[in-house]
Amino acid sequence: MRTVKPINKTNIITNEELAVHGGKPAAPKMILFGEPKIGEEEIEEVVATLRSGWIGTGPKTKEFENRFADYVGVRHAVAVSSCTGALHLSLFVSGIGPGDEVITTPLTFTATVNAIMHVGATPVFVDVDPETFNLDPERVEAKITPRTKAILPVHFGGLSNDMNALTTIARKHKLIVIEDAAHAVGGVYDGKKIGSSGNLTCFSFYANKNLTTAEGGMITLNDAGLKKKLEMLRLHGMEVDAWKRYKVTRLIHSRVIYPGFKYNLTDFQSSLGLHQLKKLEAFLTIRERYAAMYDEAFRELFGLRFQFRPTDLRNNRHALHLYVILLDLENLSVSRDEFVYALRMENIGAAIHYTALHMEPYYQKTFNLGAGNLPVAEWISERTLTLPLSPALSEDDIHNVIRGFKKVYTCFRR
Ligand SMILES: Cc1ncc(COP(=O)(O)O)c(C=O)c1O
Repeated sequence: MRTVKPINKTNIITNEELAVHGGKPAAPKMILFGEPKIGEEEIEEVVATLRSGWIGTGPKTKEFENRFADYVGVRHAVAVSSCTGALHLSLFVSGIGPGDEVITTPLTFTATVNAIMHVGATPVFVDVDPETFNLDPERVEAKITPRTKAILPVHFGGLSNDMNALTTIARKHKLIVIEDAAHAVGGVYDGKKIGSSGNLTCFSFYANKNLTTAEGGMITLNDAGLKKKLEMLRLHGMEVDAWKRYKVTRLIHSRVIYPGFKYNLTDFQSSLGLHQLKKLEAFLTIRERYAAMYDEAFRELFGLRFQFRPTDLRNNRHALHLYVILLDLENLSVSRDEFVYALRMENIGAAIHYTALHMEPYYQKTFNLGAGNLPVAEWISERTLTLPLSPALSEDDIHNVIRGFKKVYTCFRR
């Protein structure tokens, strides 16, 4: 295992030895970055579903879709097996394919851009804003060509993009907008929940997300025609799903309208989602409280930077999926990776979101990209780290993260 050389072995704030040098870790056991909070209600609902005899896509999924649409304030919600599936279907149903360009951000999980590749289109990376970590609208407009078909913004960490600016650009150039809201359930932009814009908006319910169904996703939209197509495409391209066929005695043939996909969400998973959705507001409040504890504690640490967070919560609310810190690398004696390693040795499950995607081997090679192409995303990507944030954590956990972070920071600060 790699060791990290300190500047000074002891710490000027707590005087404690770092775990990486053999000291006692700040937390007694690993504090995960996105631990799910599953209650008895979820467990009982899952068990009831198992006992019901219908564990595939059926009534629970329908109910979850309806409640999710109500929560977001949109006409339709189509449940799918992941946000990756949601993005793929959204691009597909929008008619985007070979020869088309889709403008997106390099500061995202690979699933966003993989989905563009899955429909055979070309991703065009545009640099991000250094404060919001989201697409810089001015740079978006500069990258539009006659082949551009869509803009795919990612609401990084749970903070909405400047959708007014992006929508104006999209209208002017007749482009489709598909939103990657994998991080952003519960977020608000300009007085409305993220997902209510009418653009196809894709959510993730993966295990570490603000609302989880273990694996799962949702597409929200207002267009009834597109909704029907999405429902057909998510289940083999058949016109009637299994639940509708089997709940009646009459024989119903399900005609194949198109060679579709297998992206349905099961009732088993929706059982989790129904209760997670009920708790979402309470979860968000806890996330906000913990983020405020971090803010307060780290204010005194010189040189750190943070993602912009709006303060008028009713109009603009960060969904706080990620609590991200940018390190002041120039004044540290170790690299970011060594810093994260030292945090992990303190039992702090720090993570990295993200290595800018154009620096990943596949995208670098395929699109002939590399260092210097998207300087802001690269700058963020080199110094970013994410601290644990989840309603499953206790206040003691948060205090331990703070203590461990301060130990590591103080020791490695030049
Ligand atoms: C920004 C972003 N988009 C898409 C995805 C894919 O989500 P899923 O795991 O539900 O497919 C993720 C997953 O973490 C993500 O972070």
